[in-house]
Amino acid sequence: MKKRLIEIIVCPECRGELSLNVTLLEGEEVKDGLLACKGCGKSYPVRDYIPRFVSMDKYVDTFSFEWNKFYDVQMDIINNTDESEKTLRWKAGWRPEDLKGKLVLDIGVGSGRFADIVSMWGGEVVGIDLSFAVDAAYKNIGNRHNVHIIQADIFNLPFRKETFDNMYSIGVLHHTHDTRQAFSKVVPLLKKGGEFAVFLYALGHYHYFSDIWRKITTRLPIKLMYYLSAVAVPLYYIHKIPFLGKAAQFLLPTANWSKWKWRWLDTFDWYTPKYQWKHTWSEVYRWFKDAGFRDMELYDDGKDSALTQICMKGKKI
Ligand SMILES: C[S@@+](CC[C@H](N)C(=O)[O-])C[C@H]1O[C@@H](n2cnc3c(N)ncnc32)[C@H](O)[C@@H]1O
Repeated sequence: MKKRLIEIIVCPECRGELSLNVTLLEGEEVKDGLLACKGCGKSYPVRDYIPRFVSMDKYVDTFSFEWNKFYDVQMDIINNTDESEKTLRWKAGWRPEDLKGKLVLDIGVGSGRFADIVSMWGGEVVGIDLSFAVDAAYKNIGNRHNVHIIQADIFNLPFRKETFDNMYSIGVLHHTHDTRQAFSKVVPLLKKGGEFAVFLYALGHYHYFSDIWRKITTRLPIKLMYYLSAVAVPLYYIHKIPFLGKAAQFLLPTANWSKWKWRWLDTFDWYTPKYQWKHTWSEVYRWFKDAGFRDMELYDDGKDSALTQICMKGKKI
């Protein structure tokens, strides 16, 4: 944690100012310490460089496992790729000049693949996550001068109203117990005139069978699911066989990326989370409209992605 973060965060319980007591400082980074609220007196540890506003990962233990196992798989900076940068561009419609010099909130940072891009583009990014994915994100990008990583719950975030210039949440809100409530909780944190971009799963027939499989897979031990998800790696070749491939993919949908580790990761990511809601474009459009957003933009990659994903951005008025 950088000392500068104290200017951005507040007590999640009473919105009081926090004071920082440093136990161990390494260069610019507070490794261990305590944040105490000057208002209500509650305190929160800084442990292993990360302020922790939750003590457990609650229902997102699968993500704690996932992002620490696969911490490097989708990181452009580690793999010398531009996959995550391209994805951020088309899912949120931003260019580097849109985020340069801006304070940006990454809601559900995971291992930090998109926060990596925002910081490279010159934005100051705050990445929050309920799971221990924050440890993976810190390992990947946490010690950059313009990156802050915080472990906290979307439903009780440690920020004042209208703190951020822009915000995004990619593949996250539908993994909470209530997507719309999660959306409503974060909107006040955005400044007027700021943009909010979300990526959510779309309601459609493609997940008919996976919804049935998930009734079983979400109950299996995480470690077992880690190994079972590896079936996605060779299934990729079966999916290329005419007719048989399409049938196999419909009956047992698995990730189909050309990179084998991505297939493993994304199949685990699909079958393990406790919550996985799907929505319609019109539903999400209404959330934006009702929350006071205008100029909504929709994004798709021109390859039928709109059937499975909703990418939408709006400007807060
Ligand atoms: C599919 S991952 C996406 C991570 C990242 N946005 C990405 O695209 O790589 C979903 C993330 O949402 C986080 N998450 C789910 N519920 C949350 C909550 N209530 N508060 C904060 N993070 C949450 C999970 O811990 C997980 O890391």
